[in-house]
Amino acid sequence: MPLIAVLPGDGIGPEVTTQARRVLEALDLGLQFEEAPVGGAGYLAAGRPLPPDTLALAKRANAVLFGAIGDPRFEALDRHLRPEAALLGIRRELGLFANIRPASLFPGLEDASPLKPEVVANLDIVIVRELTGDVYFGEKGRRTNVEGLRQGFDVMTYNEAEVERIAKVGFEMAKRRKKKLCSVDKANVLETSQLWRDVVNEMSTDYPEIELTHMYVDNAAMQLVRRPTAFDVIVTGNLFGDILSDQASMCAGSIGMLPSASLRAWSGDNGMYEPIHGSAPDIAGQGKANPCAAILSAALLLRHSLSDEASAQRIEKAVGAALAKGARTADLGGSLSTTEMGDAVLRELA
Ligand code: NAD
Ligand code: IPM
Ligand code: MN
Repeated sequence: MPLIAVLPGDGIGPEVTTQARRVLEALDLGLQFEEAPVGGAGYLAAGRPLPPDTLALAKRANAVLFGAIGDPRFEALDRHLRPEAALLGIRRELGLFANIRPASLFPGLEDASPLKPEVVANLDIVIVRELTGDVYFGEKGRRTNVEGLRQGFDVMTYNEAEVERIAKVGFEMAKRRKKKLCSVDKANVLETSQLWRDVVNEMSTDYPEIELTHMYVDNAAMQLVRRPTAFDVIVTGNLFGDILSDQASMCAGSIGMLPSASLRAWSGDNGMYEPIHGSAPDIAGQGKANPCAAILSAALLLRHSLSDEASAQRIEKAVGAALAKGARTADLGGSLSTTEMGDAVLRELA
C-alpha cells in the first residue's frame, strides 16, 4: 500500500491540503496517509521547523504531499529555525533537484487573468526549475567590509553536473511536448549563467529534434507577459524559476492554480508535490484559499510517483469540469470557500 506523507504546514497550507487529500481519498486507490508537522507548525510542535520524525516520514514515504510553510511570527528567528528552512531542508535531504511547474490556463479562466484573454488563451507551458542549487544553497552570511559597513552575501554557484541533470529534464520534457526548450539565464552578466548556457548548448547535440533557444531572464519576464503562449518548456535556475513561476501563475489566472512536482529523477518514487504558492498569511484561516493548486499537485503525485496516469487525468478533468461550470474561489473572481471548491471538484470526480 503506497504511503503518502502529508505535511500541511502553515497558514493556508492545511486548508488546501485537506481538499487535496479528500480528492485522493475519493479515488479509493488504497493509499495510506500519515501526517506530520512542518514549518512553523514543526517549530511549535518540536522546536524546529523540520522535526526529525517529519523528515524520516518524508524519506520513508512513496511521495510527499506538501501544503505551504511560512509564518510571520517566526520571521525574526535564526534562519535555520524559520519555517522556510524546513522546505529547503526536505528538498535538499531528498535530493529533489527538479521542480516541474506546469502553467496551463483552464478553458473559461481567461477572464481571471489580468492579461487580455487573447494573450493567455490556450496557455500550456512548463517551467522546469532547478531546486537544490544556485544562490539558495551557496555560502551565505554577514560580514563587516573594509569600510566597517555591514555586508550580506549569498554565493550563486552551479557545477556542470548540476546543470546537466536539470537540462536533461528540460530536454526530455520538451521531447514529450512541442519540442521547444527555452533556457533562461543571465549569461550577459553572471559567470554561473555562462557555464549554464555552455553546458545546455553542449547537450543540445544529443537532442537534434528540440528547438533550443536561450533568453536572458529580464527579457523572459517581459515575454511571459507579452506572449506567454510562445513558450513551451522553460528550463532555468532556482532563483529565476521561483520568480518566473509566480509571474506565470497570473497568466493561468491565479497563483492558486499552479501545482508543482519536485523530483530527483525524470520520473520516480519519493517525489514531493506542492502548490507553488505560500502560506498566504493575509487570507489564512478565512476559508478563502483556492485549493486547485494543491488538488492539481495531488494529480502530479499520482502521475510521477505512482505512475497512475489515468487517475491523474481524472483529477485534472474534474478540476477543469468544475471550473467550466463556474466554480470560482475569490482569487478567480468568485465566492466559493476552499471547502466548497473542493466539493465542486469531488462532484465532478463522482
Ligand atoms: P504567498 O504565495 O503566500 O501569497 C502571495 C499572495 O497570493 C497573497 O496575497 C495570498 O493571499 C495570495 N495567494 C497565495 N495562495 C493563494 C491561494 N491558494 N488562493 C488564493 N490566494 C492565494 O506569498 P508571500 O505572501 O510572499 O509569502 C507568505 C509566506 O509564505 C512567507 O512566509 C513565505 O516564505 C512563504 N512561502 C512559502 C512557499 C511554500 O511553502 N512553498 C512558497 C512561497 C512563499
Ligand atoms: C517556493 C517558495 C520557496 C522558494 C521559499 C518559501 C523557500 O517561494 O516554493 O516557490 O523560494 O523556493
Ligand atoms: Mn516561490
